[in-house]
Amino acid sequence: MKILVTGAAGFIGMHTAAKMAADGHRVIGLDNINSYYETQLKFDRLLQLGIEKEDIRYNSKVSGLPNFEFIELDIQDAGNLNTLFARENFDCIIHLAAQAGVRYSITNPRDYIDNNIIGFFNILEACRQFSINHLIFASSSSVYGNSDDVPFSENQKTDAPVSFYAATKKSNEVMAHAYSDLYKIKITGLRFFTVYGPWGRPDMAPVLFAKAGVNKKPIKIFNNGNQSRDFTYIDDIVEGIKIVAENSKDIENYKILNIGKGAPDLLMDFVTTLGKELNVDFIYDFQPAQKGDVIATFANTKALENLGYKPKTSLFDGIHEFVDWFKKYYKIAR
Ligand SMILES: NC(=O)c1ccc[n+]([C@@H]2O[C@H](COP(=O)([O-])OP(=O)(O)OC[C@H]3O[C@@H](n4cnc5c(N)ncnc54)[C@H](O)[C@@H]3O)[C@@H](O)[C@H]2O)c1
Repeated sequence: MKILVTGAAGFIGMHTAAKMAADGHRVIGLDNINSYYETQLKFDRLLQLGIEKEDIRYNSKVSGLPNFEFIELDIQDAGNLNTLFARENFDCIIHLAAQAGVRYSITNPRDYIDNNIIGFFNILEACRQFSINHLIFASSSSVYGNSDDVPFSENQKTDAPVSFYAATKKSNEVMAHAYSDLYKIKITGLRFFTVYGPWGRPDMAPVLFAKAGVNKKPIKIFNNGNQSRDFTYIDDIVEGIKIVAENSKDIENYKILNIGKGAPDLLMDFVTTLGKELNVDFIYDFQPAQKGDVIATFANTKALENLGYKPKTSLFDGIHEFVDWFKKYYKIAR
């Protein structure tokens, strides 16, 4: 297939693009390389895909590893986005570009409208105009809000998000439903559950905690540590995305699917394992719950399992791989 992966300089996008290209698909990665977090990390991820920083020009395609090309483009730039779609004849779009982050959405809601609502609309419109076979997009477990109806199933109510980030992801799902129904576009929304692993985001707990730990700075633990997450290793997420992309014909026209491990871990177990692997004694700064945070997430992954998905990575193995990368990338000698 010829696949567009948006958000290809991002954490999940880089891994997804690498896997799909390695498995023989022709992949074009797109990203605006914004500065929500350090752009150097995004350029270093792109380097893993064979793309040199010096070669990147806005709206101009560059070749990288076999089967991989990259284009710097903003999904808010509808004109150039449509030109790209007109030229490339994509079979499948894996749309991962978004303004991520729950906490940042509380102070910067407009960024979420611009990237996650307007940007998403531009993707939907391009899929309609250029008759794309399959659009797969990133939703989030955060749409479940503070539901205590666990494990979270795709058909349960998700109309009470507790962050603006989650509100934009839920909006994407309903916008996608209308487009799929009206224009008969196959659209699959994937609700990712807390993804971690090598090349992870520096605004998320694993990197934040690991950096603080090695610098002997306290780590903030919210809700006094009384939280659990369905931590899902990046390779399992990518496998789930690949299964959805390659089994398009077995999926209903509009479908929402959870991708998680299906087994939550206590936040404190995650932190303790991370500390042991890093060989640091964390200094804890226990704090009350933060606005927008949910207490627990737990994925029911049966629907995706019916397509062949089976998460394989234990918390221990996943953290081991993460720490291995973290020490190399941030040059930590211990
Ligand atoms: N990481 C997780 O745990 C998690 C959980 C649930 C959902 N998600 C969703 O998965 C997707 C990927 O997340 P991630 O963790 O890789 O985040 P990320 O921030 O590392 O990647 C997103 C990428 O999209 C790019 N981008 C943002 N706005 C853009 C725009 N207007 N035009 C072009 N590119 C743009 C960014 O530069 C970034 O490289 C996002 O949609 C996110 O909301 C992630």
